[in-house]
Amino acid sequence: MTTPDGGRIPNHIAVIMDGNGRWARQRGLPRLAGHRAGTENIRAIVNEAHQIGVRFLTLYAFSTENWNRPSLEVQGLMQILSDFIDRETQNLHRQNVRLRHLGRLQGLTPLLARKVQQAVDLTGENTGLTLAIAFNYGGRLDIVDAVRDLVAQGVGADQITEEAISARLSTAGMPDPDLVIRTSGERRISNFLIWQAAYSEYWVTPVFWPDFRPEHLHQAVSEYGRRERRFGGLSE
Ligand code: IPE
Ligand code: IPE
Ligand code: MG
Repeated sequence: MTTPDGGRIPNHIAVIMDGNGRWARQRGLPRLAGHRAGTENIRAIVNEAHQIGVRFLTLYAFSTENWNRPSLEVQGLMQILSDFIDRETQNLHRQNVRLRHLGRLQGLTPLLARKVQQAVDLTGENTGLTLAIAFNYGGRLDIVDAVRDLVAQGVGADQITEEAISARLSTAGMPDPDLVIRTSGERRISNFLIWQAAYSEYWVTPVFWPDFRPEHLHQAVSEYGRRERRFGGLSE
């Protein structure tokens, strides 16, 4: 599939949804108001990604390092995830979206963990866009958990391959992201998909996440389509 200007479409887009706090501060609002505003545009971005022909969309919503924030903000973010699931799951299910969770459910309250699991189970057979929510996700933790699995399963040293590790990451079965988008102008990976994004293209916008619109997604995709991916090889 190609963009209107003839470029390739990324099969998997991963987004570091950043800048909610600064968006709120600019408006004299509490940080949580920024987080709430940030979830409002997810529906539009999911629809747009689907329209463009993207098959996998991953959203980074809460990192393993975000536990270091004040507990009121952490609690608020947990509540926002819970509300998001309540509000959007049926709608996503109707759109044939398959939900996935990346990261550890352990650490969330049992109620929230169950809610996430139920949404994942409900939509598990859907065949449309896969929407992966990285919540309590850390790339290093993901690798640690994969290695623990290998050891627990008694996998021998000579059977430890890139494929064996990939198959035990929380993204197992998903293709690597082709394009990683970060909003709010920061230029770092912040422990997001550090294994999977080894050869992803990066696109950064100064726009804060609550202001991110389908047109920004189009800009990212169309720039992606013009890039040359060499994977260590040479130009054609
Ligand atoms: C991203 O927005 C959302 C999370 C990390 C949970 P931030 O809360 O990081 O917003 P800034 O970076 O402080 O503006
Ligand atoms: C990354 O944003 C995590 C999410 C968007 C969920 P942060 O705002 O937590 O990252 P740093 O601390 O600026 O690197
Ligand atoms: Mg931030």
